[in-house]
Amino acid sequence: MICELRNIVKTYPAPDGSERLMILNDISLSLDKGESVAIVGPSGSGKTTLLHIAAGLEPPDSGEALIDGCDISKMGERELALVRNRKIGVVFQRHYLLPQCTLLENVLIPTLPYRNEQARAAADILDRLGLSKRLNHFPAQLSVGECQRAAFARALINRPLLLCADEPTGSLDQAAAVEMGKLLYEINKEEQTALILVTHSEKLAAQMDRTLELCDGKL
Ligand SMILES: Nc1ncnc2c1ncn2[C@@H]1O[C@H](COP(=O)(O)OP(=O)(O)OP(=O)(O)O)[C@@H](O)[C@H]1O
Ligand SMILES: [Mg+2]
Repeated sequence: MICELRNIVKTYPAPDGSERLMILNDISLSLDKGESVAIVGPSGSGKTTLLHIAAGLEPPDSGEALIDGCDISKMGERELALVRNRKIGVVFQRHYLLPQCTLLENVLIPTLPYRNEQARAAADILDRLGLSKRLNHFPAQLSVGECQRAAFARALINRPLLLCADEPTGSLDQAAAVEMGKLLYEINKEEQTALILVTHSEKLAAQMDRTLELCDGKL
């Protein structure tokens, strides 16, 4: 299995500290190579929290989160950073591209630890995402959809085993969102990257292999 969540429980403290709010209540989910799953559910149901736990960005209270067979919920910060860099790609609703870097430089950021000839790979992936004429543009010179595609290129540059995307089409119009869904699914199948996609769009969810609904802490 590429991604395996076992009996994940996550609570957050209530603001007055009186009690803890149950967000994820014993969630289990597994994804093999090349599988895709859409997570849908009401606002506040814990989709982002679940994605962050799968991506190693947040620890669960209890339960296990495995990537490629290793439990990331028990790793130290250094080891975890390495696993995130090598095995996991993340795309957030907002693209978080660095404004002072061109698209090419942005996409190369995850490869900086390796310092080998990655520029061609970065250019290839930007080309694949329809941005071959935008390599030396800055994010501010591009449309929201173009920036979001560049954020995907950055998440994919190290060929992760798992791609976690949190409402990546939230700021796109319907047609652009469907186009993005198609592209994502293609990459998921071609590269065999496991894909967890959080979305409010039923259309986009239907483009994935399966859809799971998060509600009252349960999938
Ligand atoms: N750091 C935090 N401290 C306390 N509560 C939090 C924290 N992060 C999230 N929560 C709470 O956890 C719940 C789930 O949040 P989460 O962001 O996972 O929801 P979501 O399903 O992604 O919602 P949306 O569709 O609006 O993005 C919410 O009720 C939120 O208030
Ligand atoms: Mg969310």
